[in-house]
Amino acid sequence: EGDDVLEIRPPVVTVMGHVDHGKTRLLDAIRNANVVEGEAGGITQHIGAYQVWHEHEGIERAITFIDTPGHEAFTAMRARGAQVTDIAILVVAADDGIMPQTVEALNHAQAANVPIVVAVNKVDKEDANPSKVRAQLTEYGLVAEEFGGDTMFVDVSARNNLNIDSLIEAVLLTADAGLDLRANPNKEARGIAIEAKLDKGRGAVATVLIQSGTLRVGDPIVAGTAYGRVRAMLDENGQVVTEAEPSRPVQVQGLSSVPRAGDTFIVTEEDRTARQIAEKREAVERNASLAKSRKRISLEDFT
Ligand code: GTP
Ligand code: NA
Ligand code: MG
Repeated sequence: EGDDVLEIRPPVVTVMGHVDHGKTRLLDAIRNANVVEGEAGGITQHIGAYQVWHEHEGIERAITFIDTPGHEAFTAMRARGAQVTDIAILVVAADDGIMPQTVEALNHAQAANVPIVVAVNKVDKEDANPSKVRAQLTEYGLVAEEFGGDTMFVDVSARNNLNIDSLIEAVLLTADAGLDLRANPNKEARGIAIEAKLDKGRGAVATVLIQSGTLRVGDPIVAGTAYGRVRAMLDENGQVVTEAEPSRPVQVQGLSSVPRAGDTFIVTEEDRTARQIAEKREAVERNASLAKSRKRISLEDFT
């Protein structure tokens, strides 16, 4: 273990909200890239994570953004999203107003004590009613500053790139208003798997968020029941990186299998240890599911 010194790390911001209220498009506007068009059916299939840089009071600041899917089936993943995050951006479409998953998302954030910045999106639309969104959210304890509360609301249009800078400023103001954003980069990395998939050419590929320590190519790693040695790391632009510090999302190759979104990962000193931990977890899971199916059989037998 290296020096036990805490260093400032970038805020991790999760973008949450009802399906189709514009989370991915908003992230696009923030990144100035366009991933929405490439998505199957326009529904986000996974949680994406990206780091962007923003000039704030003359200083370049990094911010990590995590996209979350709005589809109901992803409720569990979204619940995990609130645990990795420092700040939540709650996206509410100004034409729709608050919807069931808006409430769900804000409940998750409030339960996790995560400060919320409200992005009132789609204000370019004719039937947009941003005042109504403010009034509706008052009932959930999110009272806009202009109404005497302490929640920042920013009217945006992801489509027209309107007020995106103000939204980022609001995030940085929130980060600077009492959040302790520090981590020790001088130790073995630990963090969380944000998304993972099996890639034809590259095998198991996992996007992980480093929460403390520094992850390096060659590190033995265990994520859930997946283990291996970090063979290669890519950043959100597909660029090769050799190490990743706290709050950095990176795509990791070299795992034996595909971890689940929300699985924690740790780096171990030896390959052997990573494999042993993974195998032990797998055995525990196997026993648990066996016990469950046995229980089901015996219930069916006697009822
Ligand atoms: P899920 O991931 O499926 O929950 O959706 P999402 O919240 O990520 O929404 P997405 O970014 O996919 O946007 C949904 C639709 O709204 C798309 O057709 C976008 O082009 C559109 N949209 C997003 N932002 C705006 C906006 O500011 N104005 C207008 N007019 N349309 C927008
Ligand atoms: Na969508
Ligand atoms: Mg999306």
